[in-house]
Amino acid sequence: MNNMDPKSSSMTPAAAAPFELPELPYAANALEPVISANTLGFHYGKHHKTYVDNLNKLVAGTQYADMPLEQIITSTAGKTEAVAIFNNASQAWNHSFYWKSLLPKGGGEPPAALKQKIEAAFGSLDAFKKEFSSLAVSQFGSGWAWLALEGSQLKLVKTANAGSPLTMGMKALLTIDVWEHAYYLDYQNRRADYVNAVLDKLINWEFALQNMGE
Ligand SMILES: [Fe+2]
Repeated sequence: MNNMDPKSSSMTPAAAAPFELPELPYAANALEPVISANTLGFHYGKHHKTYVDNLNKLVAGTQYADMPLEQIITSTAGKTEAVAIFNNASQAWNHSFYWKSLLPKGGGEPPAALKQKIEAAFGSLDAFKKEFSSLAVSQFGSGWAWLALEGSQLKLVKTANAGSPLTMGMKALLTIDVWEHAYYLDYQNRRADYVNAVLDKLINWEFALQNMGE
């Protein structure tokens, strides 16, 4: 299952434990003014890092130690005896995916191929953004808002806590973290302002298109 070259020190995304905190795809201040370097520093350097560190401790010596991250997530979902492993594995994956869902100077118009699919599924780009935003705002407590593919159908879904579309038979295309740690230093309780700013100015449409395999 672990197809990593054992002589190589670099980990591939499919590699098994020990998992490494992936590098941020941009500088800590690159998402300002929408997300401050202060928020990103804590979010990546403390929260994301802790999930990865905890996961490595939890899987050491278990059946999960040789599994790729995605397989740990799907294997532990819904198992009460493995809830801590699921939570930390899924949060590690979700955060890596979130960083790639954002892009300095992102937002704006999606590429034509994605825009057509969005318009076919949601009516218009504006209607889509409104629906994505209200879904993210309506997640009670901590969680995630996702654009995902179910078969060939675009879906907007929300998950609580560490929840993942991977366990729902869906392919993730984009995500927005709506845990308070993602926005509280910059927006306090104004989650809608954070979500709308991310959709308008940071969302990485090209990443969604890549994930669609197009
Ligand atoms: Fe987070």
